[in-house]
Amino acid sequence: GTFVRPARTRRIHSHLLRRDNIAPHDVPPRPGGESTAMNTTAIKDVEYEQPTAGSDGAVCSTKHAWARVPPELSQEERARLKERIRRLLKEKNAVMVSHYYVHPDLQDLAEETGGIVSDSLEMARFGRDHAAQTLVVSGVKFMGETAKILSPEKTVLMPDLDATCSLDLGCPIDQFSAFCDQHPDRTVVVYANTSAAVKARADWLVTSSCALDIVRALKDAGHKILWAPDRHLGAYIEQQTGADMVFWNGACIVHDEFKALELELLKKEHPGAKVLVHPESPAEVVALADAVGSTSAILKAAREMDAKEFIVATDNGMMHKLRTLNPAKTFYEAPTAGNSATCKSCAHCPWMAMNGLADVARVLETGANAIHVDPALIPRARLPIDRMLAFTAALKSGQPAGALVPHFGAA
Ligand code: 13P
Ligand code: SF4
Repeated sequence: GTFVRPARTRRIHSHLLRRDNIAPHDVPPRPGGESTAMNTTAIKDVEYEQPTAGSDGAVCSTKHAWARVPPELSQEERARLKERIRRLLKEKNAVMVSHYYVHPDLQDLAEETGGIVSDSLEMARFGRDHAAQTLVVSGVKFMGETAKILSPEKTVLMPDLDATCSLDLGCPIDQFSAFCDQHPDRTVVVYANTSAAVKARADWLVTSSCALDIVRALKDAGHKILWAPDRHLGAYIEQQTGADMVFWNGACIVHDEFKALELELLKKEHPGAKVLVHPESPAEVVALADAVGSTSAILKAAREMDAKEFIVATDNGMMHKLRTLNPAKTFYEAPTAGNSATCKSCAHCPWMAMNGLADVARVLETGANAIHVDPALIPRARLPIDRMLAFTAALKSGQPAGALVPHFGAA
């Protein structure tokens, strides 16, 4: 399978706007009214790509979204909010589920209070299996939706419901559905970073930590694959497995920015450093990696590899865990700012950055920002997620996970 890189030249784009520069209709009021902190909240305009053809040879058009980044808080405010959250979690029978890319405070507090900080696969599993009635998911919308699909009876709260993802935005259900209709002979494998409606059109869900194993098993069982939405992860999996794949043309705005040439220069400066790369990065960057994998695989590699220095190509939210778990090792951010640097070239997801302590406290207090997934979609959207969780559980316990993949043509 092939796809064509968008022909357009990326526009240099650097709007970091203050709230008062945004037309009122661009920023919906947040539920529960606006706090004073909101007045100093930075609004970041974010450019992302959306395929306009939706098949081999797709080209991307440029669309805009925005992110609302809360201000950094003082030590006293942070301590006060953490205390309030600890109390509210107990009162409301709630648990925190945080991704590695969110603010360190939300990672540490999740762990300190019996919750979890993890990759997207373990977030889904933990949320499903935990006994708490309320899950507070710090991350982006698809993570909250996955938690709700797996536990419709639980309340799933998110600090900010507008925290989205360029992969989700770039894969709207109507166009994706038309793409699937063009390839009825293919098994539809979608990445977790998608809407509930896209999941409901999929046969299998994968995250970066299990995509290789699942696609390999599907290939061995005779399946041809329709892959969406991340083109870089898709290309990496095709190269590793030799599966017959066609691709949706989406990308993560953060990982798409890592630059191979500048990475080679940084490697020369640190010849002993190992390079750890998330597979949402471009192929030229993946080609320079000593280890390629999901956020949890990157953490594992940093712990286990016998090196003192590492260059890391993933969202810099990961640095918190990498550094606290490996105090004797040094971690450098892989370069993003090259000749084609844009406003996104900061190695930090603007939507992950929307999560803050103040909103965690607010949603726990008020019950605002509950995730809603259309109940009519839930059973169908759950099917590919359940398959992924069963497959990965079998893999973990050493059972033959491949047996869970039906041979192509089987019922
Ligand atoms: P993982 O945590 O599954 O590696 O996903 C990375 C990601 O991009 C989440 O937004
Ligand atoms: Fe999406 Fe990339 Fe942000 Fe993850 S880091 S939520 S893939 S835009």
